[in-house]
Amino acid sequence: MKHRNTLTAVAAVTVASLALAGCGGGSDNPSSSTGGSSGGGAAATKDLEIFSWWTSGSEDAALKSLISAYSKKYPDVKVTNGAVAGGGGGNAQQILQTRIQGGNPPDTFQTHPNESLKVYLDADALEDITSVYDATGLKDKMPADMLKAHENNGDGKYYGLSVGAHRGNVLWYSKPMLEKAQVTEPADGYTPETFLADLQKVKDSGGVPLCLGAKDTFAVAQLFENTLLGTVGKDKWNQLTTGGLQWSDPDVAKAADTFTKIMAFADPDASAMTWDQAIKKLGEGQCAFNSMGDWAYGELVKAGKAEGTDFGYAAHPGTDGTFVLVVDTFAVAKGAKNLENAKNWMAVLADPAAQLEFNKLKGSTPIRNDVDVSSLPKYQQTAAESYRSDGLVWSIAHGQATPPAFQQGFFDAVTQFVSNKDTAAFSQALVSAAG
Ligand code: GAL
Repeated sequence: MKHRNTLTAVAAVTVASLALAGCGGGSDNPSSSTGGSSGGGAAATKDLEIFSWWTSGSEDAALKSLISAYSKKYPDVKVTNGAVAGGGGGNAQQILQTRIQGGNPPDTFQTHPNESLKVYLDADALEDITSVYDATGLKDKMPADMLKAHENNGDGKYYGLSVGAHRGNVLWYSKPMLEKAQVTEPADGYTPETFLADLQKVKDSGGVPLCLGAKDTFAVAQLFENTLLGTVGKDKWNQLTTGGLQWSDPDVAKAADTFTKIMAFADPDASAMTWDQAIKKLGEGQCAFNSMGDWAYGELVKAGKAEGTDFGYAAHPGTDGTFVLVVDTFAVAKGAKNLENAKNWMAVLADPAAQLEFNKLKGSTPIRNDVDVSSLPKYQQTAAESYRSDGLVWSIAHGQATPPAFQQGFFDAVTQFVSNKDTAAFSQALVSAAG
């Protein structure tokens, strides 16, 4: 997989790619010494800017629960919520790049672990937050692979802290719509073939079979990624994303064909809808299925919809037993104006009670494996169980499995494929992106 270290103004997608070195305040920043309430030694300041792409109803509510937990502990600090709209973070990440390059980073910003975090590490744009891990005992409470995804090439130091894990491969459905079309609710073992037959039944009943928030580019890429996983399975997924298997593999072409068939059932209004509008349309019983990460759950609940009555869920067809990780992480920018406050923010993210409250609103699972999830709704208990016991794979569409250059190529290839339906060209584009 190619790593790209030059800054690229990335259009339309969620990819961040930063110029090398010199972006942040540098390691000689006097404020990066240890000490202070959570390890930061900077003089106390009165502000904290938190940058993210959490602006939908449920995202905003979940973020505010963390801000309120922080403000309870640090009432004298004025928090600026610098969230930038745009599902999947496409807009936010472009603005973040510009700010980091201009030497004006927010104090702390949302990202994902593994390959996404690596972009900022390669650019020397992050503070070492190992002291926060030490102070909060986090190291013993996370799976080893997950911990590693917050280090720099296994250096034993930590640069990002995650608050929750979303499951990316969930198929949501409208209960009333399925009932009307006489479709049996999906359960374990649901296959892509049965899914296609069910989409047809909904169409025959006069309904819109597939909700899709295609205005957010990530939503279409995510539908393909889930279809791909449902076709190739976990092992091949890991080989494809780490260079052990060519993207010209016939199973990729098979997934592409299934994807084209699924896309033929998409809502005619898809291109005008964001991910949250699409899932709310499903909640209203106006379209039948939506393949989307479980931030959709937070949004459905926020909209007053009830699981088991208005909607149900299953693993995306063919992906039972695998949990596609879309992990929400914050990092502290090197050169942060309010370094100590940002480190204290990280300590709040690590707090079990704050994690529980946040994830309850967000639809995700606490990243700490010692958080008691029995008070969470049924869906989230199921997801937590899957996170703690199923096979975990990183998402491509959300920038964790592969370097940014490939993620960009993946988005471009999917976009092209949706318009030209040329499977051979699609495979070739993925092969070239993998380099
Ligand atoms: C993901 C993020 C989620 C959710 C989603 C839609 O990248 O991890 O928390 O916000 O985008 O915006």
